[in-house]
Amino acid sequence: MSEKYTFKILRFDPQTGQAPYWQSYEVPQLKEGMSVLDGLLYIQQYLDGSLGFRTSCRAGVCGSCAMHIAGTYRLACETQVKFLSTTTITVRPLSHIPIIKDLVVDMTPFYEKYEKIKPYLMPGTNDVDEHHERLQSRSDREKLDNIIDCILCGACYASCPMTAADPEYLGPAALMKANRFVVDSRDDNVGERLQIVGDEHGIFRCHTAFNCTEVCPKHLDPAGSIANLKRKHLSVKIMKVRPQ
Ligand code: FES
Repeated sequence: MSEKYTFKILRFDPQTGQAPYWQSYEVPQLKEGMSVLDGLLYIQQYLDGSLGFRTSCRAGVCGSCAMHIAGTYRLACETQVKFLSTTTITVRPLSHIPIIKDLVVDMTPFYEKYEKIKPYLMPGTNDVDEHHERLQSRSDREKLDNIIDCILCGACYASCPMTAADPEYLGPAALMKANRFVVDSRDDNVGERLQIVGDEHGIFRCHTAFNCTEVCPKHLDPAGSIANLKRKHLSVKIMKVRPQ
């Protein structure tokens, strides 16, 4: 077990006008199972109170501590330093999202895109009784298993080359959420959803790099969701060209 770690953190405060720079901190081994978040909290409490980062649940649930750690996007609270293959741990904020300060990013564009795909159940106009229970078979519920657990951390979004190339691109998290409702047997608005995701900044912008699936801390498959949306979108188009 290493006695200490060097946290090399990308610092940036847009209000100062100073360019981003790397700053290093020596952090002792605090406990068995020490996480990157433990290290950041130590730095903020004992070494440099000006360091900015987000955290809330400290249990891999809220998604607020996603950042680029030792070469890839991870949750700081879930990442134990002993499993990183280095004692010099580089940490920088999520990419393709404006920085507010240090590791804190402005998630507004991310959530605006999320809102565009209408991330809620739309049971259809015939379903007038909003108080009744909407039953779902076990097999239909199982279709949502690898989609529904997204915590909106933004790791997939930051890893995606298309969110860098096209600032309007909806991004993997929003598209996976759209697929979550397209697949849901209780939703009755597939046509509108496919129209939203099929525009010039939607599914066909995805070049299937698979970065999103690779970095997802919940082991979900946004790339697979986008592929499913593409399939559905194209099959609707073909049906229109060649009606049965
Ligand atoms: S603090 Fe909530 S996921 Fe890390």
